[in-house]
Amino acid sequence: MKQNQLDKKSQAWSALFSEPMSDLVKRYTASVFFDKRLWQADISGSLAHAEMLAAQGIISAQDHADIERGMSQITVEIESGAFDWKLDLEDVHLNLEARLTQLVGGAGKRLHTGRSRNDQVATDVRLWLRGEIDLIATLLAELQIALLEVAEKNVEVILPGFTHLQVAQPVSFGHHLLAYVEMFSRDGERMAEVRQRVNRLPLGAAALAGTSYPLDRERVARTLGMVDAQGQPQVCQNSLDAVSDRDFAIEFTAACALCMVHISRLSEELVLWMSQNFGFIKIADRFTTGSSIMPQKKNPDVPELARGKTGRVVGHLMGLITLMKGQPLAYNKDNQEDKEPLFDTVDTLKDTLRIFAEMIGGQINPTTQAKEGGISVNAQAMERAALKGYATATDLADYLVKKGLPFRDAHETVAHAVKAAVTHQVDLSELPLSVLQGFHPSIDKDVFDVLGLRGSLHARNVLGGTAPNQVRLQIARHRGRLG
Ligand code: ARG
Repeated sequence: MKQNQLDKKSQAWSALFSEPMSDLVKRYTASVFFDKRLWQADISGSLAHAEMLAAQGIISAQDHADIERGMSQITVEIESGAFDWKLDLEDVHLNLEARLTQLVGGAGKRLHTGRSRNDQVATDVRLWLRGEIDLIATLLAELQIALLEVAEKNVEVILPGFTHLQVAQPVSFGHHLLAYVEMFSRDGERMAEVRQRVNRLPLGAAALAGTSYPLDRERVARTLGMVDAQGQPQVCQNSLDAVSDRDFAIEFTAACALCMVHISRLSEELVLWMSQNFGFIKIADRFTTGSSIMPQKKNPDVPELARGKTGRVVGHLMGLITLMKGQPLAYNKDNQEDKEPLFDTVDTLKDTLRIFAEMIGGQINPTTQAKEGGISVNAQAMERAALKGYATATDLADYLVKKGLPFRDAHETVAHAVKAAVTHQVDLSELPLSVLQGFHPSIDKDVFDVLGLRGSLHARNVLGGTAPNQVRLQIARHRGRLG
């Protein structure tokens, strides 16, 4: 009984507390089982802080050496799985500090000089996120390269371009894929911009007001690589703001949500293109599943799930932005809730980008070094579909404009021609010249050049247009940009 009381007492925060936390409250308030993922960032931050404390003469060189030794030992323990994470020690920060003190004694107790968990956690999340942004940037580039490879092979392949999901005008399949390359390249730009604001140092803000120790915050920023493009240290300039705002996590999640929305749009197209009614493409079997009841089915589970997971990331954005709303300055424990949505956002986006790059571009075969197993394209099916919806009607109107008609009159003339083609169940290019001439006398036999899909495609030779030589120019530009 006496021993039990002693144990419980030792679990209370400090001498100030008359009773320990209940198990439920401990579980409710602890974060160690998810924030232990920050351990490397926590150690990097602590080492940079300790190095500066020693350089400023706030702790001794011996203490600094002891802290480095202890942290190396802890690194080994965590990497080998031997580290004993304790719920009682609430979070990653207290777990690491307690173990350090066990290993090196007094130096471990001096590490927290001039620091609070508030500036510590803000620093850890920023350091961790910076690394994840760099990984995401690489994955985004790989997905763009996969799309470029498929685009390159399909510059001359024609599919119907849609507006309102109604056949509109013929487009190159390569051009269509390049639209997604543009979206993912903007996602990459957003990541790079967010990274600049993530990569700033909160340490030195301490609990909220700064600290009375003569810290050199710029030195710590330099050690941690928190510098701008000119190599100047990036330090949060207001202590209250440094410990409390999570806007960097929110804008990162917003960029991820937008990237997932782009993936979701692509997913929707893949699902449509794979359905029997389109039959435009196939994806490798390993990205599909069968049905437990219908033996003929091959379902596009991966694109469907990606579309579904977009909702999850958008939800995390809502969670984080709502978490921030209504928090008075400075740090509040609410902020501990930033981690799970942020971690899940990163995991979901990284997995999705990886799987899409492989599903679209295929995998390198180690023997042939060639990429295999990407999407396969049924060019005939695409072209057949493009022939269905009078996709070259605009070309006929443009033809009449070039013969001197005002565009509005040409539009009306072509509407009559389309009506006739619908009635006879033929394509515009299948109407005899004499019939076409009935709609306007200026129509000549050169009209058949523009009524065909290829003529229509090649005619759109404007910057950003679908003409094959424009598409090739864009592919070359993207290749140059992606290195
Ligand atoms: N686990 C906490 C978090 O994630 C660390 C900071 C705790 N600070 C405090 N004053 N209780 O935000």
